[in-house]
Amino acid sequence: MDIEVTWYGHSVVMVRTQYVSLLIDPFLSGNAKAPVDPGDLKPDVIAITHGHSDHVGDAVSLAKEHGALCISNFEICNYLQSHGVERVHPMHIGGGFNFPWGRAQLTIAHHGSALPDGSYGGSPAGLLLTFASKTIYHAGDTGLFLDMKLLGEKHIDLALLPIGDNFTMGPDDAVRAVELLAPKVVVPMHYDTFDVIEQDPDAWASRVQLKTSARVRVLNPGDSLTV
Ligand code: NI
Ligand code: MN
Repeated sequence: MDIEVTWYGHSVVMVRTQYVSLLIDPFLSGNAKAPVDPGDLKPDVIAITHGHSDHVGDAVSLAKEHGALCISNFEICNYLQSHGVERVHPMHIGGGFNFPWGRAQLTIAHHGSALPDGSYGGSPAGLLLTFASKTIYHAGDTGLFLDMKLLGEKHIDLALLPIGDNFTMGPDDAVRAVELLAPKVVVPMHYDTFDVIEQDPDAWASRVQLKTSARVRVLNPGDSLTV
């Protein structure tokens, strides 16, 4: 089964298989780097890693428009429901669920998760997604953590990792993360959206290629790759 993964800048990722269009962290409105408008995307499922506005983004309006199922932690699902989203699937860290289109598991992330209205957004998370035999890891916003080594035992085909620094791990720690996760392919994300997270992704890619056997794909917003 071919899986098409499209990066729309920041942490916005669409995963398309023959069974699902799954949109992660749909920060499109107000994101100067996003090459599409929310109206251009038609997700069946929306996954949200944590409560910050640059990750919840357009989740509420997109979920309502398309009747999309929202997957997130319990607290964020409550928030979405209180804003009129009808289909939610609450989960929590360490828990996974076998959906008809594949498996989603919430993994740890060291970060915050306050929601746009200031309410408590539970624990921030990463996402481990399994489609048939392919495994994709979206780290959400996080610092480096040693348990990435455990995630690496899952044989990750594609890892999407923040490299922006300031709010998440920066380039140095993100190289260490690739060493621990040992993915086949890695895509850097969560950089250049704001001044304080400007980075040189090509320089980072060169460092990763020197130290690991992972293949780095530096994407422009809107670019896709096949897993
Ligand atoms: Ni955040
Ligand atoms: Mn963020």
